[in-house]
Amino acid sequence: MRSVALDRKKHDRKSFDCGVKALNNYLQMMASQHASRDNTRTFVLEDDDNPSVIIGYYTLTMISIDLTALPANLQKKHHNVHSAGLIARLGVDKRYKGKGFGEWLLVDALKKLLHASESVAFPLIVVDAKDGAADFYKKFGFVPFFDAKHRLFITVDSVRKSF
Ligand SMILES: CC(C)(COP(=O)(O)OP(=O)(O)OC[C@H]1O[C@@H](n2cnc3c(N)ncnc32)[C@H](O)[C@@H]1OP(=O)(O)O)[C@@H](O)C(=O)NCCC(=O)NCCS
Repeated sequence: MRSVALDRKKHDRKSFDCGVKALNNYLQMMASQHASRDNTRTFVLEDDDNPSVIIGYYTLTMISIDLTALPANLQKKHHNVHSAGLIARLGVDKRYKGKGFGEWLLVDALKKLLHASESVAFPLIVVDAKDGAADFYKKFGFVPFFDAKHRLFITVDSVRKSF
């Protein structure tokens, strides 16, 4: 399996439904425009049998972070840092849920951010978890920020060590 950059001419964004309207709408209406403006990058996993069908997608960008919402050891270690990699969105179409594609997309997103961090260093990766998905990320080692239970982070160092 391989993720590819969202291609509005090729990929059927209208049929995509992950069950969260905001995530469907972003893919359908915003993702391509944001990519063309270098604001975010969206990658999709295609169905091998029909590459226009989107199994799932994720969107990457950077975010500014408030270090005071992190454990003291991380505040000390990264005291001059103000930005982190962000998995801004991640969704799997309802037809493909429960088959490991969410995990595959998350690992793929982490690999891309790890690779990016080797050129433009940042120490943390953050996710904004939609309705009830925080537990999904916790399974993979993400920890909630003190001040926002839907925003979670993992260190680039622990991602590096896990691969
Ligand atoms: C959350 C989501 C991405 C999971 O995708 P998926 O393809 O169904 O997940 P997977 O099959 O890869 O599951 C991997 C593991 O995570 C677990 N898991 C899946 N969804 C979970 C959730 N919401 N909470 C806790 N654990 C979850 C699975 O049980 C599985 O565990 P196992 O390996 O112990 O069996 C998908 O349900 C989705 O798109 N949800 C709507 C959008 C959303 O909430 N996105 C995430 C936040 S932006």
